[in-house]
Amino acid sequence: MSVRTIGVVMNGVTGRMGYRQHLVRSVLAINEQGGVTLSDGSRVKLKPVLVGRNADKLADIASKHEISDFTTDLDAALADDDNLIYFDAQVTSARVKAVLKAIEAGKHIYAEKPTAESTQEAIALAEAATAKGVKNGVVQDKLFLPGLLKLKRLIDGGFFGRILSVRGEFGYWVFEGDWQEAQRPSWNYRTEDGGGIVLDMFPHWHYVMENLFGRVQSVYAKAVTHIPARVDEQGNTYQATADDAAYGIFELEGGIVAQINSSWTVRVNRDELVEFQVDGTHGSAVAGLRNCRAQHRSATPKPVWNPDLPATARFRDGWQEVPDNAEFDNGFKIQWEGFVRHVLEDAPFPNDFASGARGVQLAEMGLRSNAEGRRIEVPGL
Ligand SMILES: NC(=O)c1ccc[n+]([C@@H]2O[C@H](COP(=O)([O-])OP(=O)(O)OC[C@H]3O[C@@H](n4cnc5c(N)ncnc54)[C@H](O)[C@@H]3O)[C@@H](O)[C@H]2O)c1
Repeated sequence: MSVRTIGVVMNGVTGRMGYRQHLVRSVLAINEQGGVTLSDGSRVKLKPVLVGRNADKLADIASKHEISDFTTDLDAALADDDNLIYFDAQVTSARVKAVLKAIEAGKHIYAEKPTAESTQEAIALAEAATAKGVKNGVVQDKLFLPGLLKLKRLIDGGFFGRILSVRGEFGYWVFEGDWQEAQRPSWNYRTEDGGGIVLDMFPHWHYVMENLFGRVQSVYAKAVTHIPARVDEQGNTYQATADDAAYGIFELEGGIVAQINSSWTVRVNRDELVEFQVDGTHGSAVAGLRNCRAQHRSATPKPVWNPDLPATARFRDGWQEVPDNAEFDNGFKIQWEGFVRHVLEDAPFPNDFASGARGVQLAEMGLRSNAEGRRIEVPGL
């Protein structure tokens, strides 16, 4: 069977996500396995063209991975007709300008979330891509986590009966940078640089809720900057202007209530960095990144509230591990393969710029809810 190669312009590969998840774990891993297999059995390899602001850093990555093409000239990379796809994993604040340029150049676009900092810009990107007739996709990696895939399997199998509520707990302690280096880039803690946990995490929660449970109809969020000053990559103290924790309540279609805490100022006392508990009339489940455990109504204990007595049961023992029943590949790579098929043979790819815009909208509505101190209805987009 034939193998063809298409060029992929990758902007932001010196960053955490661009390098590790997208270049190494997705694009290079796809090439190592022999390419993306299309429906006719043929294969497609991806030729990364690295784009960024710092030629030395790009050269280092290129030589480490034997990549021949890198440039600081985005226009030149976009002018090359062999490059069919433009991928963007830059800081959020740099995304819209570069993506609009790539749309104008007629490239198909794949981008990290959030696609923009405002709903208006996110919609403008979706409209520009549609008007130009280019395919568009946004990273929605959490949908491909083994834990959430198992949760989806429970939902599809009717395990829950009627789903009543979802409780999500996400977060970990991000060091302030003074006596231990921060494990996330400092721009995340400055609103003026596109930071903030609402803008970062609500787009994720949006596609998780929309795909697993139903449309998000309203939001109430309390966003807080718990740590007002942090120390950056150069050792300088800066004002943390962005929210580092958000406490959200979302009403979904079907009367489902979702509460999700997102925090970079919480210490982990859970099995995983994110966990969602779903309670339904017939059963409940707790899904994390990798694992999912469930309790059917027939195995539900009957606790009686009596603070004078020790706990009547070891409650955590009454849950059953949901089996893998499948091999789980890297979620970023699966989505890359899906996007390449979408571009080359029009395979369905629901994670488009329109869904990305709904995610940005939820973040914007969350911030508005916080500013106005009230519940906000989320208009349909
Ligand atoms: N899908 C996910 O799970 C996930 C996780 C983390 C971050 N992200 C998203 O990925 C994007 C990148 O995040 P990251 O954590 O890799 O950030 P990072 O700071 O590690 O990388 C940012 C990249 O953007 C480049 N850049 C371009 N213009 C810049 C500017 N003006 N200032 C600073 N850097 C600039 C940097 O050189 C670097 O390559 C963000 O939009 C973020 O929301 C997604």
